[in-house]
Amino acid sequence: MPPIRRVRQHVNPLSSKYANPADAPDWAEVFTNPQLPLHLDIGCGKGDFVRAMAEQILDWNFLGLEIREPLVERALIRRDQAQQGNLHFVFCNANNSLQPLLASWPETCPLQRVSIQFPDPWFKKRHQKRRVVQPELVMAIANLIPSKGWVWLQSDIKEVCVEMCDRFTENPAFSREGADWLSESPFPAKTDREAVTEEKGLPVYRARYIRQ
Ligand SMILES: C[S@@+](CC[C@H](N)C(=O)[O-])C[C@H]1O[C@@H](n2cnc3c(N)ncnc32)[C@H](O)[C@@H]1O
Repeated sequence: MPPIRRVRQHVNPLSSKYANPADAPDWAEVFTNPQLPLHLDIGCGKGDFVRAMAEQILDWNFLGLEIREPLVERALIRRDQAQQGNLHFVFCNANNSLQPLLASWPETCPLQRVSIQFPDPWFKKRHQKRRVVQPELVMAIANLIPSKGWVWLQSDIKEVCVEMCDRFTENPAFSREGADWLSESPFPAKTDREAVTEEKGLPVYRARYIRQ
């Protein structure tokens, strides 16, 4: 086991430390079958959500992207211990790595679903450019996901979810499902933050965007 490394609560994705895109792994090595439909979870934290999804849905692959390296190291150890051939994690800044990572898939990347759940809020006005959902990220997803593929957004902070929705609404490749917040998650697993928010009886703001 590698030594336990301190996990910082937040990291600044605009710091020079995260300026370079991650190297893509050999997808045929990390996934037993890289051609299965792919669910991408951006900002997966400890990875519990994708781990639970991968346990229950064996005919999909699950990929978590996370900028805090120690969380990815631990998630990969747990993945190896459980021998989950449909689960992988990459330490990266999703803002510059999503496109090159998925573009390196053998044949066409089978991306079908993307989730962005409880992203770091970066409340201060001068820090908001650190938020993960930026127009370039939305465009990268639009270029990779096929028609009828979809993006799931949720947060316990209304302002943050409204802003994520604004970024997807302004991209003509996506249309929102309904005009109101969705009440239920479509997934059989919850993220850590989702579980904590629901235990406290607090609202979760949820929306789905479908690729035209
Ligand atoms: C508040 S946590 C939520 C984790 C998990 N999705 C959940 O719902 O419990 C947001 C996560 O996104 C990660 N993150 C923030 N910016 C990122 C970026 N640019 N690329 C990849 N991960 C990022 C953070 O390190 C953190 O683990």
